[in-house]
Amino acid sequence: MKGSNELRTPALLQTLQLITQPTQFLENCAAKYGDTFTVRVMGLKSPPVVFFSHPQAISDCFAVPAQKLDFQKATHVFKPLFGENSIVLKETRSHHRQRQLLLPAFHGDRIKCYGQSICQITERVTQDWKLGTAVSIHNLMSDITLEIILEVVFGVSPGVRYQQLKTQLSSLLEDVTKPWYSSLFFFSILQQDFGAWSPWGSFLRRRQQIDKLIYAEIHERRWQNDAERTDILSLLMSARDENGQQMTDQELRDQLVSLLLLGYETTAGVLAWVFHLIHSHPEVKNQVMQELNALDNPTNPEAITQLPYLTAVCQETLRIYPIALICTPRMVKDMVEIMGNKFTSGTILVPCIYLAHRRAETYPEANQFRPERFLNQKFSPHEYLPFGGGYRGCIGAVFSMYEMKLVLATILSQFQLTLADNLPVHPVRRGITIVPRGGVQMIVTQAKIKR
Ligand code: HEM
Repeated sequence: MKGSNELRTPALLQTLQLITQPTQFLENCAAKYGDTFTVRVMGLKSPPVVFFSHPQAISDCFAVPAQKLDFQKATHVFKPLFGENSIVLKETRSHHRQRQLLLPAFHGDRIKCYGQSICQITERVTQDWKLGTAVSIHNLMSDITLEIILEVVFGVSPGVRYQQLKTQLSSLLEDVTKPWYSSLFFFSILQQDFGAWSPWGSFLRRRQQIDKLIYAEIHERRWQNDAERTDILSLLMSARDENGQQMTDQELRDQLVSLLLLGYETTAGVLAWVFHLIHSHPEVKNQVMQELNALDNPTNPEAITQLPYLTAVCQETLRIYPIALICTPRMVKDMVEIMGNKFTSGTILVPCIYLAHRRAETYPEANQFRPERFLNQKFSPHEYLPFGGGYRGCIGAVFSMYEMKLVLATILSQFQLTLADNLPVHPVRRGITIVPRGGVQMIVTQAKIKR
C-alpha cells in the first residue's frame, strides 16, 4: 500500500483525537501528510483506515464495483436501531433493490408537493415567538425537521400517535448521540438484556414501543388503501421492484426508521450552521434578505427554492461544515486501485468530505464563508460532495436542500434574529454529525415582519 502516509502516533491517541476533536484531527493530518493518509482506529481490530480527499481519489473510490467492497464492517452498528432490512445495511443486489424502491419517492418532482407542509410546520413551531424570545436554534431546528419528516415521510399528522412517535424518537436519538449510550452499539458484549433497568434492556423496550407505533400505522394504511395519499410511506407501500415484489411490513419498518433517523438531525444540524453563519456575516444576511424581499410571491415554495443566492448560502454552509465528515467507510474485499495505488483486502477506504471541501486547490481561502463561490463556479461531484456520492450517495439530498431553503425563508421573512453573543462557534461531534457547539443561541429582535 504505497503512498498512503501512515500516521506515526499510537492507535489509541489517533482514535481519541478522531472521536473528541474530529475536524482538528483531520485538518492536522492533511497539513502534515497531504491528500491521503492512513489512520489506525481501535475497535476496528486496527485494519488500516485510509482517508482520501483528492477529487481523483474520491472519483476512483466511487467507481469501485460494489462486489469488491464490504460496507457492513462500518454500518453493522446501525443494525439494532435500523433493522437488518435497512438500505444502510444492505449490499450489492439487495442494496440496489432497496434504492430502486426508495428513490422515486425522493424524486425532485415528487418533493414539490411537500413545499406547503414544510412552510406550515415552520410557522406552527415558531408561532409563539415574540420580541425578546430567546431561542436555541439547534433544538428548534430539530423540532421542525422531526415534525416535517413525520408528516412528509410518514404521513402522520398531529394527533396521539404522532405525538408519541415524536417524543419517543427524539428522546432515543438524543441518547444515541451520547458517547456512553452509543458505545452499546459498538461493543456487542454490552448488548445484554438484564431487564428494563439495564442499558440494553431499556433500549430494546424503547425500540419495541416505537415499532408498535410504526406497525400500527402500517397496518392502518394497508387497511385504508387510500390512493390519494402522497407521503413517502404510501409511495413505498405501493412501490414494486423489478420482479414486481412489494416491501414486507418489516422492510417498511426498517426503511422508515432509517429515513426518520438519518433525515432529521442531519438537516437540523445544517440549519443550525446556516443560522449561525448568516448572522455572523451581515453582508450575507443583507443579500439573502434582498433576494427574499424581491419575490413577487413570498410564500411560493417553488420561487423560494429557486433563489440563486439562498441556494448558494446553503451550498457554502454544507461545504464549510458538511454535517457528515466522511462517506460510508468501505472495506476492500478484493484488491482495488485508487489513484494508481493498490489497496489490499481488509483496508478500509474513507472518502473524506470535510477535507475535500477544504482543499485550497479547489476552494481558494477555503476557511472563509463565501457563498458567491457557488454563483461563479460549478464544482464536480468529487470536489463537492456533502451528500456523498456514487451508488451509496444520500437519497435525501434533493429533499433536504429543498426543506432547508423553505425553513430558512419562512423564518427570515417573519422574524429578525440576533446571535446572543459574538463568540466563535466550534464544531462538535453529535453522533455521526458535526454541529455547532452550544446550539446557536439567538434572540428574536423583531417579530412578524409585514412586507
Ligand atoms: C443535510 C442533510 C443531509 C446530509 C448532509 C446527508 C448526508 C449523507 C451522507 C454523507 C451519506 C453517505 C453517502 C455516501 O456514503 O456516499 C448519506 C446517506 C444516506 N442518507 Fe443522507 N444526508 C442528509 C439528509 C438525508 C435525508 C433528509 C434523508 C431521508 C429522509 C437521508 C437518507 C439517507 C440514506 C437512506 C442514506 C444511505 C444511502 C445508501 O446507503 O444507499 N439523508 N447521507
